[in-house]
Amino acid sequence: MTDHTTTHAADEDARNRDIKIYVNGDIVHRDEAKVSVYDAGFMLGDGIWEGMRLYNGTWAFFDEHMDRFFNSCKAISLDVGMDKAGIAEALRRTAEANDMHEDVHCRLMLTRGIKDKPFQHPSLSTTGPTLVIIMEHSKPVDRLQSKGIRLASVPQVRGLPHSQDPKLNSHSKLNCIIACLQAEEAGADEALMLDPHGFVNTTNACNFFIVRRGEVWTSTGDYCMNGVTRQKVIDLCHENGIPMREKNFALYEAYGADEAFLTGTFGAQTPVAEIDGKTIGSGERPVTKRIQALYKELIKQHTA
Ligand SMILES: Cc1ncc(COP(=O)(O)O)c(C=O)c1O
Repeated sequence: MTDHTTTHAADEDARNRDIKIYVNGDIVHRDEAKVSVYDAGFMLGDGIWEGMRLYNGTWAFFDEHMDRFFNSCKAISLDVGMDKAGIAEALRRTAEANDMHEDVHCRLMLTRGIKDKPFQHPSLSTTGPTLVIIMEHSKPVDRLQSKGIRLASVPQVRGLPHSQDPKLNSHSKLNCIIACLQAEEAGADEALMLDPHGFVNTTNACNFFIVRRGEVWTSTGDYCMNGVTRQKVIDLCHENGIPMREKNFALYEAYGADEAFLTGTFGAQTPVAEIDGKTIGSGERPVTKRIQALYKELIKQHTA
């Protein structure tokens, strides 16, 4: 088990030492899975990725993930080189080669491919894109559910959409990584990032929700990743009569929340224990628990 608590902390699984990885159509042992140092993803962070989870042999919310993936690739003129069915087939082959069905996390990565020269211009990538699929046996550690995550608000902010739109799940995550480092220096597990106006927006790796006086609040959705799990939680609240608002709010309201939780494909809903050293609520978390149960049921129906 990793000592360091992050929202992506998973139980150690010895099987991951021998997983097979998809690299441009080949499926090879992880020690053999390599890309060129001239690859645009390595050299410049020029690529797009998706994180997905396999439940009962089915990729949860595959269409939503593909919608975001293809939209992002289109936005940066990155030709995927295959359609959604082609991606599904690459995923199927990789899961089959690894005999994986349940508790699996996948990182699907597409870069602009190998460059002729070590410079920035996209036209220097002449080989076509590089597609890599890493699938690992992965179960979030149970202790996160009881203990919760510690957040620190950080100076690094989410950008405006006309710089590098935070909706791009790009290989370059430096904005988030700088935020994460700042949180670590403050003694926290993950960073709570503000938007350019000072409103609470998201964490460096997950979307952020609070529960105040029976209402669930999350940011307006500007400046944060358009998380698939975020949208599912919003929809579940609306469908189940849980008051839900997408609105601007400040640290003032977050500190005084009764509950707070993060959302993401890996951890589903992860409770927040404290923000900037201030304990959030009583730790009972009835609304978070209700949403977790509803989400579990949704996954069950979706992957039956
Ligand atoms: C910055 C950031 N926020 C939130 C998320 C969660 O999104 P999802 O629920 O689609 O996994 C991700 C995942 O890629 C992310 O990188």
